[in-house]
Amino acid sequence: MIECRNLSKSYGTLEAVSDFNLSLEEHEFLSILGPSGCGKSTLLRLIAGLEVPSQGRVFLQQREISAEKIILPPERRNFGMIFQDFALFPHLSVASNIAYGVTGTRSEKQKRVRELLELVSLPHLAAKMPHQISGGEQQRIAVARALAPWPRLILMDEPFSNLDYQLRLQLRSDIHDILKHEGVATILVTHDQVEAITFSDRVLLMHNGKLVQDGTPTEIYQQPQTLWASSFVGEANHLTVEWQDKALKTPFGRLNVPAEIGKQTRILMVRPEDFRLESATSEETNATVKTVDFSGSVQIIRVELTGGVMIQVSCSPHSVHLAQDSVKISAERFLCFNNSGHSLEGFSTK
Ligand SMILES: Nc1ncnc2c1ncn2[C@@H]1O[C@H](COP(=O)(O)OP(=O)(O)OP(=O)(O)O)[C@@H](O)[C@H]1O
Ligand SMILES: [Mg+2]
Repeated sequence: MIECRNLSKSYGTLEAVSDFNLSLEEHEFLSILGPSGCGKSTLLRLIAGLEVPSQGRVFLQQREISAEKIILPPERRNFGMIFQDFALFPHLSVASNIAYGVTGTRSEKQKRVRELLELVSLPHLAAKMPHQISGGEQQRIAVARALAPWPRLILMDEPFSNLDYQLRLQLRSDIHDILKHEGVATILVTHDQVEAITFSDRVLLMHNGKLVQDGTPTEIYQQPQTLWASSFVGEANHLTVEWQDKALKTPFGRLNVPAEIGKQTRILMVRPEDFRLESATSEETNATVKTVDFSGSVQIIRVELTGGVMIQVSCSPHSVHLAQDSVKISAERFLCFNNSGHSLEGFSTK
């Protein structure tokens, strides 16, 4: 439905978006995830037609809509937009805000407004003004307003970041269901990895204006392609390893991997939940528990491996390890990275 080919946008010497390729299918939910300043909003504005690309092109259903010298104006693209600051018109009631972009007769408009207020579960707020409703309600109305003219695509830029934690979770799930119900394709821009992973069918990871990885949420988390990606999405332990006597020598013991992978491996990445911690006899011990932090659903345990390397392990809240316990650590899943920080292969020992 939407395709960006080799899209770039420069501001002076700064390349905010660099040679970016993206494609989006009908009905698909895509997240663009990356740290602050990596070019996410610029990319979204290029897709919306609010910026002209310095290089590359944007296509809508195979028709070119943005390039250096061609631009289809944003209002003719039929995209709905939802931003962080809600941006409802302050002088219009909730119902008039929703009706704003809808064409048709008065009764057709009223019908669409009623439908959308039902959809966002706020029919009782139709006559209120924006300042008379809460932030979460305003954001739901912003979604209703974006959906009202039957857009072909919804673009959202950090739409939940102004809301408190509980409301953000609730609204994220509600808006996800509403947009899926309407069947409208969506691009969500966010720096929040949990938001990207839970909201979308596919995640594009962005860093310094460039596409780093394009994958399903599971792929992005379980098979990060670079060391940077592994620590941006989730927690990651990076351990220096070497190939010695036909096995990988790691700070917590030897691992068997195929020689062609092992010989190239320099760094091992292990997620905190993929370490296994066991009580051990003194001969088996390869680590000491340093701190145990209870954080509700998990315990975060910092462990010092024999040799001094510190790692982070997450365990069930019911596990019974205490500071200074001697333990045996092993890895149930790990990923091998080469000298330049690119992933080679993942393994499971279970
Ligand atoms: N109109 C502009 N003129 C000059 N530089 C700009 C302009 N818009 C953005 N930039 C720069 O381009 C880079 C990317 O900005 P952008 O707003 O796309 O980042 P972002 O990923 O959305 O960040 P955040 O998560 O903080 O919103 C930044 O370094 C920013 O300062
Ligand atoms: Mg931004």
